[in-house]
Amino acid sequence: MKTIWEAKELLAALPRRSLGFYPTHLHRLERLSQQLGVELYLKRDDLSGCNLFGGNKMRKLEFLLGEAMAKGCDTVFTYGATQSNHAMQTAAVCRQCGLNPVLWLVSVVEPDPGGLRANLLLDHIFGAKVQIVPLREGESEAQAEERSFQLGAEEAARLEAAGHRCYDVPMGGASPVGSAGFVSGWVELMEQGKAMGLAPDYVCHATGTGGTLAGLAAGRALLGQEQKTAILSVAVSPKDEDYEERTAALANRTLELLKASERVAPKDLWVERDYYAPGYEIPNEAGNEAIRLLARTEGILLDTVYSGKGFAGMLDQIRKGRIPQESRVVYWHTGGATALFAEREIIGDLAEK
Ligand SMILES: Cc1ncc(COP(=O)(O)O)c(C=O)c1O
Repeated sequence: MKTIWEAKELLAALPRRSLGFYPTHLHRLERLSQQLGVELYLKRDDLSGCNLFGGNKMRKLEFLLGEAMAKGCDTVFTYGATQSNHAMQTAAVCRQCGLNPVLWLVSVVEPDPGGLRANLLLDHIFGAKVQIVPLREGESEAQAEERSFQLGAEEAARLEAAGHRCYDVPMGGASPVGSAGFVSGWVELMEQGKAMGLAPDYVCHATGTGGTLAGLAAGRALLGQEQKTAILSVAVSPKDEDYEERTAALANRTLELLKASERVAPKDLWVERDYYAPGYEIPNEAGNEAIRLLARTEGILLDTVYSGKGFAGMLDQIRKGRIPQESRVVYWHTGGATALFAEREIIGDLAEK
């Protein structure tokens, strides 16, 4: 078990490029706390920079692009859906570092033929090389993703042969290097909590690739806080039964990278799978209700794909008493509000109630 200072020393040994604005704000939601009967705080990674449209990927990218630059790379490849927040944030920070972003994007939702919207629009403004991979008849999203990785690798090989140096950022930045960003996030939260006299009982967030969760769980293990603070991870897409196992393995590879001996067990992860239906990038009523609730009590925006469904999961767990009254709860706002300007398929009836 490490102290905050020792954890920071371990993180300082990794290459890192400062990209966002940290620490992100941590503040209490007065009106909603009163309404729900818990002490509710928001960790504002939606305001992480480097422009209006921050999010959780900035923390991962500090370490990923740190490594890319240490290796002398000039081009960065990454992958995701056409409205990927991760891909957009990667494009933005590549420009901040003088690197060329190449994005391979699977069209889970067909881009609006009438014009580019939301993250896909921003990708173009950043001048990223955008390669769209349409879903083939009968092909699953996972198969199309595999195909995009293959196509990306072929393009990277061609560029390398022409003298470029390419760096591959996996989808969602979910690698030990990327997850180190959320070890740093956990340490940051605990340091802020200490200064505010706040020891959170619960930290809640939306989980996709698992890179954020792996980093948070690794950070918690590093500081020996498994018994003190539960992490509620709300799935925003279907997860197979091995998800906890794979995510704990990623957390452990992150701890190995940091040369730390602490470990995360799959049983330490609390993943709720009941809140994403009917599917990834398809809105649901509880998620949209959660967005309206936070907007109308606190003036803060979530999104329909990630943070709204995550918030809805947390609200339900509070209402069911699984997060008891008077608990100190931190919701990690991972960003994503650009989705509010995406295709109708992604936002549903959000503005109609
Ligand atoms: C807004 C938002 N929240 C949460 C997540 C989930 O993060 P992770 O993929 O690290 O699980 C993402 C990932 O794309 C995201 O864009």
